[in-house]
Amino acid sequence: MTQPIPPQKIIVHQLGRDYKSATRIVDDILQDPKPGQIRLRNHFAGVNGLFDAMAMQGAIGYIPLTPPFDLGVEAVGLIDAVGEGVKMSVGDAVATTGLGGAYRHYQIIEAAKAYKIPTATPDYLAIVPTGISALVALEQVAMLQAGETVVITAAAGGLGHIWVQLAVNMGCRVIGIAGSDAKCEFVTSLGAERCINYKTNSVADVLGEHYKDAIDVAVDTVGGSIFDALIDNIAPLGRLVVSGYASEIVEGAKPVLAPRIYERLYWKGASVRGFMNALLSEHHRDAATRLFDMMHAGDLHISLDPTVFKGLQALPDAAHHMMSGQNIGKTVLDLRDGV
Ligand SMILES: NC(=O)c1ccc[n+]([C@@H]2O[C@H](COP(=O)([O-])OP(=O)(O)OC[C@H]3O[C@@H](n4cnc5c(N)ncnc54)[C@H](OP(=O)(O)O)[C@@H]3O)[C@@H](O)[C@H]2O)c1
Repeated sequence: MTQPIPPQKIIVHQLGRDYKSATRIVDDILQDPKPGQIRLRNHFAGVNGLFDAMAMQGAIGYIPLTPPFDLGVEAVGLIDAVGEGVKMSVGDAVATTGLGGAYRHYQIIEAAKAYKIPTATPDYLAIVPTGISALVALEQVAMLQAGETVVITAAAGGLGHIWVQLAVNMGCRVIGIAGSDAKCEFVTSLGAERCINYKTNSVADVLGEHYKDAIDVAVDTVGGSIFDALIDNIAPLGRLVVSGYASEIVEGAKPVLAPRIYERLYWKGASVRGFMNALLSEHHRDAATRLFDMMHAGDLHISLDPTVFKGLQALPDAAHHMMSGQNIGKTVLDLRDGV
């Protein structure tokens, strides 16, 4: 039988470009929740390789980060202690989101910030906050309308596979872009009319041939030449939503020798918009409630990447798995064992 270990967490002890140089696993001190707070035994954490890569460098645009600080955002677990005045109970399952709350065995959080869920299962990690991001981006930034033509990049990923389903459910024509045939099969199985494997096809050629000036909405998390191809084929009054730029975010966006993009937007009245979920928190609670309902009604299927990553020490491998594009669906870290 394995001996229980003390609770632990991952901290960034110095800024750096990778987990090895920037992070360490340290023992955590179990504290009691104050009034209004809950203590949660984290069972699962969502893996955010790109966000972590930027956080470890102190490069998250909306939060100043100075080491030491805790890492990891979304978690699902069971309440094991409640502070005074809290209406939730020990044993309740909750999903949480907040920097520093996830890559650890226990966290303390304001009860009002937690989302009560029926079971502490990892599928809820894909809703809080990934699905929330998907819904808020489509509704508040893309202003997606039924029947529009939508292109979704990294379409087989945690965020992407929810975007595909939300847009399909709205009666939109959905075109996915993803990095393998297996991913594309998954994306079309969700209802996309086409999925372009950008590793074996030119996105610019396929969009130019089949969707010339016909993309009403594009939600892009990849950037680079894919972003260029989306702009080139945006429809009149189209909206391209910059929701990330995975291909360049770690090294920094490269200079491009090309005319400024206003000439490609102006005559079509098209726009490029940024989406940053953390800045739209007033929409989160409503989005989560609706997404839980969709999930429970069978209108939203959550896909978790099947590769199992167990324990805090598995985080670098889990992040590498997603950063190298091997994941299909949400990548999860299982924190249940040992403590
Ligand atoms: N703006 C916001 O508020 C917000 C909120 C949540 C997430 N995001 C962003 O949304 C994206 C998706 O997040 P997720 O957690 O759901 O991840 P994910 O999509 O499950 O995994 C990332 C995927 O991005 C694709 N990718 C393409 N180029 C890449 C590169 N150079 N490095 C790493 N990945 C690359 C890969 O898919 P392919 O094999 O198909 O290329 C990979 O599987 C991330 O970029 C994240 O930062 C933004």
